[in-house]
Amino acid sequence: MNQPKRYTITAALPYTNGPIHIGHLAGVYVPADIYARYLRLNNKDVAFICGSDEHGVPITIKAKKEGVTPQDIVDKYHAIIKKSFEDFGITFDNYSRTTAKIHHDTAQEFFKKLNDKGEFIEEVTEQLYDEEANQFLADRFVTGTCPKCNNEEAYGDQCERCGSSLNATDLINPKSALTGNVPTLKETKHWFLPLDKHEAFLKEWILKGHKKDWKPNVYGQVKSWIDDGLRPRAVTRDLDWGIPVPVEGAEGKVLYVWFDAPIGYISSTKEWAERVGKDWEPYWKSEDTKLVHFIGKDNIVFHCIIFPSMLKAEGSYILPDNVPANEFLNLEGQKLSTSKNWAVWLPEYLEDFPNQQDVLRYALTANAPETKDNDFTWKDFQARNNNELVAIFGNFINRVVVLTNKYYDGFIPEPSEFSKVDEETLASIKAYPAVISSSIERYRFREASQELMNLARLGNKYLADEEPWKLIKTDEVRTKTIMFVALQIASALATLSKPFLPFTSTKLKNILSASPNTINNSWDDISQKDILLPAGHQIGKGELLFSKVEDETIQLQLDKLEASKKANAAENAPEATVEPQKEIITFEDFTKLDLRVGTILEAEKMPKTKKLLVLKVDTGIDTRIIVSGIAESFKPEEIIGKKVTVLVNLAPRALRGVESEGMILMTETPEGKLVFVNPDDASVANGKQIS
Ligand code: 2FM
Ligand code: ZN
Repeated sequence: MNQPKRYTITAALPYTNGPIHIGHLAGVYVPADIYARYLRLNNKDVAFICGSDEHGVPITIKAKKEGVTPQDIVDKYHAIIKKSFEDFGITFDNYSRTTAKIHHDTAQEFFKKLNDKGEFIEEVTEQLYDEEANQFLADRFVTGTCPKCNNEEAYGDQCERCGSSLNATDLINPKSALTGNVPTLKETKHWFLPLDKHEAFLKEWILKGHKKDWKPNVYGQVKSWIDDGLRPRAVTRDLDWGIPVPVEGAEGKVLYVWFDAPIGYISSTKEWAERVGKDWEPYWKSEDTKLVHFIGKDNIVFHCIIFPSMLKAEGSYILPDNVPANEFLNLEGQKLSTSKNWAVWLPEYLEDFPNQQDVLRYALTANAPETKDNDFTWKDFQARNNNELVAIFGNFINRVVVLTNKYYDGFIPEPSEFSKVDEETLASIKAYPAVISSSIERYRFREASQELMNLARLGNKYLADEEPWKLIKTDEVRTKTIMFVALQIASALATLSKPFLPFTSTKLKNILSASPNTINNSWDDISQKDILLPAGHQIGKGELLFSKVEDETIQLQLDKLEASKKANAAENAPEATVEPQKEIITFEDFTKLDLRVGTILEAEKMPKTKKLLVLKVDTGIDTRIIVSGIAESFKPEEIIGKKVTVLVNLAPRALRGVESEGMILMTETPEGKLVFVNPDDASVANGKQIS
């Protein structure tokens, strides 16, 4: 496309069944925000659109689990998600929600138009049904084996492993997610979008068109689906949560969530346009608008096949210019999982790392899963902060600002003659906007962020080579020129960092623009202007842009994850391991047990045994020997000094010739490791016997 007149940028509408986590941020919202900020900085007309996806089965399931209504769930998470996006600095022009009236109206109108145009097939077919729950099973209400890749946990509408879009009846061995029952088949009428009818257009548009500049992962997936042949797809559901199907004969039915959600981009644009007094239509209907959908890879089929087919069938809409879908982000080597609480949640991050939004933005961008799944580790987060943001970017700015204040009271010095290095340095500053733009415009945000860091590296190297702190003693004139050049780099960084590190950019601009007038260079200014910060302008006092993340801070985050791991292990422990309750005893029986707190003073292995440790225990009454069968779970040295619970009045008995006078109370983790009794230990499941 030639220079677009305006940009409509959409970011996948998040489901309101939980808060946002780093996977969502890295995959969708951070790259989309970088792109939107970059375009605005280049004075483009941008509508950056998002909102909450509040229909669909995940919401109903969550509501059922919590014993509340779906509306309660969406109200709660919509508020949490919206606030955390704002606090994190994601600059949507509009953040709407799909329960809004404007969306219900827009989605129903869209459906009616397709219906009136005869774009649907109405058909009574047999669908999966759960007799016990009295419910048709579509989407996430049913799981089974994917016919394409054999994933045993595919959903009724999609397999998340291979990305295939499925009909519930395609699943092998389907099972109701509500009751676990094997579904029966029951007849029901639905409206189908005949994707097969759009196959020719999709082939032309994606395969023969210019879509080869799409990311290979996106193009490849779409090509293989089209090559496999497309089939009609039901866009209505027998559910009670969703947008009512607005035609006769469809009472009690709602729109399929993936029919209404992408229309949410349109209704959110309408809401925005109304609010700011604009016309929404050019943003969706004018050929000189560039429409870009930012999504995760599990959404590719919906944005590259189903939604374009809907838009084409409607007839008056443009189609996306690009769909730069990202791969997945893992966390510490494991798949992110909401249900397993294996995630870094945005609201928690904002609380644990106040005013450090840019650190997470940077770590996620520098390690973005753009071409393959990637792993987020807290160690990498720490290294990105300490070794790049602090040691390169922050260090450069700090040196420039401190020296300018120290030598010149904050006034930018007048340069004299530029050396060859100065000239080269000033010329390289000018080259950066084009380099970074080229990466951003090809959706290579990772590469773009590294180019930005290279500019800070250039600044550091320039100072390290020219050593103004030494030269000030012998050559004041040359020092002024060096500081002048370094300040130009600092100024370029203030502008070019804005899409990536928006909070830092604002801080830096404030430092550099203290008086007399604000210096606000645009993206193009950096490549066009010879002077970004003029001599005589006074900058402000420094403040540290970044601070070191200490090991203890990282350890706290790792501990949180460890706790999730243990809680999961305990929760998933097979129920069969819970022993039935023993015979009732009287209180008198109980009082016969003499339980004491003791400390293990010494421990050593019983020779020629695998399981036994010989312990010397201070019981408070005396110091005695207890033989305990715990050698496979503990090394002797790791339990010395441990507090334990001791049954002290158990009849002594000899084990391998050593008399044992009591018993240490133990229990067991799901992996079979013995642990001392400590009800606070999350690794132990409820019901585990103490013995
Ligand atoms: O995968 C998801 O989280 C969906 N809620 C994305 C919807 S994107 C769109 F089309 F609205
Ligand atoms: Zn599959």
